[in-house]
Amino acid sequence: MILTTLLLLSFQLLGRAEAFVQRPWDESYALANAKVAQMTIDEKVGILTGVGQFNSRCVGDTHPVDRLGIPAICFQDGPAGLRLVKGVTGFPSGINTASTFSRRLMRARGVALGEESRGKGVNVFLGPAMDIMRNPKAGRGWESFGPDPFLTGEGAYETIVGVQSTGVQGCAKHFVGNNQEHWRYGVTADFDERTMREVYGWPFLRSVEADVSSVMCAYNRVNGTSSCGNADLLGPNGFLRENGFKGFVVSDWGATHDTAKDVANAGLDMEQPGDWIVIGGGDFNDLISGLKPAVNNGDVSIDRLDEMVGRVLAAFYHLGQDSGFPAVNFDAQQPSTPTALARRTSMSRLEFVVPPVDALTAENAGAGAAALATSLSNDLDAGASAARDRDVAVVFANAMSGELGFYDVVVGNMGDRNDLDLWFKGGSLIERVAAVCNNTIVVIHSVGPVFMPWSSHPNITAIVYAGAPGEMTGPSLVDVLYGRYNPRGRLPFSIADKETDFGTSIVYDSLTGFPEINYTEKLLLDYRYMDANGITPRFEFGFGLSYTTFVYSGPLSIVSSASGARAVTFTVANSGDVPGTEIAQLYLGFPAGAGEPKRVLRGFEEVALGVGESRSVTIMLGQRDVSIWDVVRHAWVVPPGTFTVTVGASINDVRLTGTF
Ligand code: NOJ
Repeated sequence: MILTTLLLLSFQLLGRAEAFVQRPWDESYALANAKVAQMTIDEKVGILTGVGQFNSRCVGDTHPVDRLGIPAICFQDGPAGLRLVKGVTGFPSGINTASTFSRRLMRARGVALGEESRGKGVNVFLGPAMDIMRNPKAGRGWESFGPDPFLTGEGAYETIVGVQSTGVQGCAKHFVGNNQEHWRYGVTADFDERTMREVYGWPFLRSVEADVSSVMCAYNRVNGTSSCGNADLLGPNGFLRENGFKGFVVSDWGATHDTAKDVANAGLDMEQPGDWIVIGGGDFNDLISGLKPAVNNGDVSIDRLDEMVGRVLAAFYHLGQDSGFPAVNFDAQQPSTPTALARRTSMSRLEFVVPPVDALTAENAGAGAAALATSLSNDLDAGASAARDRDVAVVFANAMSGELGFYDVVVGNMGDRNDLDLWFKGGSLIERVAAVCNNTIVVIHSVGPVFMPWSSHPNITAIVYAGAPGEMTGPSLVDVLYGRYNPRGRLPFSIADKETDFGTSIVYDSLTGFPEINYTEKLLLDYRYMDANGITPRFEFGFGLSYTTFVYSGPLSIVSSASGARAVTFTVANSGDVPGTEIAQLYLGFPAGAGEPKRVLRGFEEVALGVGESRSVTIMLGQRDVSIWDVVRHAWVVPPGTFTVTVGASINDVRLTGTF
C-alpha cells in the first residue's frame, strides 16, 4: 500500500497578552481637532506628507510639529516582522499563519508583531497584508492569507486586534485588487460590485470591524480608477467609510498617480513617502508636496485638510501613542549586513534563521545518534548518492516569490512566479532521492502551491509542507519529524496538477502598457473554481494530517436565534493514541439560484484533545455568513431556500451534514 502523508508545519508563539486599553474614538477626535485648530497650513500638510524616500529612520516618517508636541509618526513594514531592522524576529509568513486555521495563533502572532514594533518605536506597523491570492503565482500572495476570503478575513481581523492590543497601529493593505506584481503600478483590476464585497473587499471589511486605525491604498487601479484616487473606495460614501472606518488612508509608497487635488478630494489622507506627489504644484525638491498649493488655490478645502489631519492624529491618540511611546531606535536606511545565516526575503531579514540542516545536525550530535550524510548543493547525482541505502532521506525543495520593484529578479522570476514548478530542479531531486531510498521524506519550503507529481511515489513516506515558516524553520521541522510536536496545520489553498486548474492567470506581457485584467471568474477562486469545473485537486483545501485520528459524531445540531445567527454543534473525539489538535471546518452550500459557489468556508475551530477525550464544538454562523451581496439593493441579503452545512476535516473529508 502506498502511504502518502502530508503534514503541515505549524508553530507556537508565546505573545505577552498585556492588553492595551484604547482611547475611544470620540475622545481621540476631540484631542486631535484641538491640535488641528492651532496649526498652520504648513504644519498640517507636513503631517499628511512623508519626509521623502530614504530620508527617515523608518520606511516612512511624517513631519513632526514640535511646538505642539506631535512627533514624527514612524511607519515600518510588515507584514512578517520588521523589515530593514536589526535584531528582530523573522516571523512565520501570512500564508503559514493561515495554515494554522487558529484564531488563537493568528492573534498571538499579531500581539508579538505589535510588541516588537512598539519596542522599536514603530507607530504604524505596515500590515497585515490581505490581498487575496487570486492566482497562486502572485509574487506577494504569501504575505497574506491565501485565496479564501473568509480565512483571509479572519487572519486580518486577528492580526489587527493583536497588533493594536499593544498600542501600535495596524495598517490594512493593499486596498484593493493588488493581486500581481507585473504591471502593479498601473494595472487595472476590474471586478463587479458583488465580487468586491464577497471576495476582495471582505478582508478589509473585517479589518474595519477589527477597528484598524489605518488602511493603505494600492498601486494598481480598480475598474480603471487609481486606488488612491478612488472615491468609491475611499470617499465619504465609499466602501471604507460606509462600513464605519474611523482611521486614515495612507498611500502605498508612490501610489498617488493623480494630482493632490484629485487624491485628497477622493479620500486619501496621507501621502508616502512624500516626494512624488508633485503633480499639480510644488517641485521635486519641495517635500511639503503638491498639497499645499492645492489648498492655497482652493482645490482642496480647509475643511477637507482639517479632516485629513484630524484622522491621522485621532488614530495616534486612539492608540495612546501620545504618552510613553518609545522613541525610534533603529535606522532603516542602514540595516545591518546580513550574517552568513541570514537571508533577505522581500519582507524581513531572517537574521536568526536556524536552517533545517543545522537543527538536524544538532539533534544527532550525541552518542548513538543517527549518522548524517548531507548534500547541500543542487547537484542531482550528489543528492541521490547521499541518500542511497540510508534508513531515511529528508529531501528539501523550494519555490519562492516576492515583491517587484526595489528587489531582485530571482532566477528569472520577476516577483510573480513564472510557473508552479519547484525551483532548482527540486522535483527531479525528489524523484532521484526517492528512487534510491525507500523512506523518503519530502520537505517543501514554498510561498504557495507547487506541483507534486511525485507525491504518490511508493518510497515517499511523508511530505511536510513547511511553507514560508520564518526563522525557526529548522527546530520546528525537527519537532515534527521526531514526534515531539503533533502537526495540526491545514492547507490554506489547493494543490493541483495544472495551472489551468486554478482558473486565473498572471498577465506578464502587455503590448499596450498597463493591462486591464478582467476578473471574469468572479467568486470562483481555488476550490470554488475546481468545484465548478469538476476538478479534483491532488491535495484539497483544508487538508492536513496528524499523528492521531479524530472521530466526529452528530447529529449536527443547527439552532437559529432571533438575530439570524445560527449555532452549529457537533462532537469531536481523539480516537488515536497521542494527544492532538483537530481543525474542524464548516463549509456552507447556499440555496440553488443564489449564485454562490458550490461550497464556501464559513467557519473553523481548533479542537485540542487528549487521548480518548471528546468535546462538543459549536461554530457560529452570523447573518452575513449566510448572505449574498445583492447588487440591486446594494446590501447583504439572505437568499431564500435550503442551506447545506458540512462539517469535516477538510473540504472533501466531510464527516457530518445538515440543512436549514
Ligand atoms: C511598497 C509595498 O507595496 C508596501 O507593502 C510597503 O508597505 C511599502 N512599499 C513601504 O515599504
